Amino acid sequence: METKRWFAIDKLQDKQEAIQAAAALLKAGEAVAFPTETVYGLGADATNELAVNKIFEAKGRPQDNPLIVHVATAQQLKELVSEIPPYVDKLLEAFTPGPLTFVLPSNGRCADNVTAGLDSVGVRIPDHPAALSLLKQAAVPVAAPSANLSGKPSPTSADHVWADLQGRIAGVLDGGATGVGVESTVLDCTQPIPIILRPGGIAIEQLEQVVGTVMVDPGLANEHERPRSPGMKYRHYSPDAPLWLVKGSADKLQQVVYKESQKGQRVGVMAASGTIARIEADLKKDLGASLESVATALYDALRMFNSQHVDLIICEAFSEEGIGQAVMNRLKKAASHYIE
Ligand code: TXA
Ligand code: MG
Repeated sequence: METKRWFAIDKLQDKQEAIQAAAALLKAGEAVAFPTETVYGLGADATNELAVNKIFEAKGRPQDNPLIVHVATAQQLKELVSEIPPYVDKLLEAFTPGPLTFVLPSNGRCADNVTAGLDSVGVRIPDHPAALSLLKQAAVPVAAPSANLSGKPSPTSADHVWADLQGRIAGVLDGGATGVGVESTVLDCTQPIPIILRPGGIAIEQLEQVVGTVMVDPGLANEHERPRSPGMKYRHYSPDAPLWLVKGSADKLQQVVYKESQKGQRVGVMAASGTIARIEADLKKDLGASLESVATALYDALRMFNSQHVDLIICEAFSEEGIGQAVMNRLKKAASHYIE
């Protein structure tokens, strides 16, 4: 299949044409990748089972892992669900459009393969101008997982999508680099108290400010308990080389790097600016000075180390405050070794 690539970053005119072309293919039942504020999504008409199948095929995604449905407005979100607890209205008001996915009882309007047979559906309103115009023009709810091959780091640029899916999907809408860098927070809203199923772009501290108590799925922290979000049981986000997480000072990180380099391994190191400045290694990636910048740079760094064929990636362990919770969730899943 020839994959089209449209640019939605230049002049307004080009942008509108690009979005129209992408929307037309979505409506025609094709799978099309598009930018969101978190990562690129691989979209298909959520009411069309055959279209949704193309997502699973292109990604090599397990069929038991449900997809997030993207819509442009709160009204469209409500059209897909049967019940909405009052706290969801507060969260909609506070955080949408934005990186928060609401898991609610499904009313069955989405195709069965979107929800993987569950009686709930995850829906979100992405905070990205190209994504919102695409959703408005397509005028259908759009199921979209991250637009990577299953098991690879999520794509934060159209080049990442291209590297994984070129030839396997109908098109990519190129909107440049995404901002947040980690995926949306997935929140189970089928219970009286909301439960975080996957930490993401909206931090638990932010949610608590709006609704008071928020719980975290015990399956996230405890590997002996099955996570409630089917996707969280997979290893995910893995770079090609083993990744080690190291908690502690730059000196401690340097010692580990030195020891592994001595064994003849090509070692890549990723850390925040303050730490990376004090490290010597074969290849270094500065993730910036804040937890937000670390989130933005994370997946691109993992892909960069892949392309540079390092033997080992060593990464600093970060604080789990704010968006740090999502960053550390992804890193712990990717890591084969955690030195505390
Ligand atoms: O930021 C994001 O959320 C990105 C962009 C493209 O929107 N999408 C994304 O989708 O990360 P994906 O498919 O890679 O991850 C969706 C996660 C999976 O862990 C899945 O199991 C969970 O959401 N999920 C979806 N629907 C669910 C449901 N009804 N109940 C529980 N978990 C659900
Ligand atoms: Mg994904």
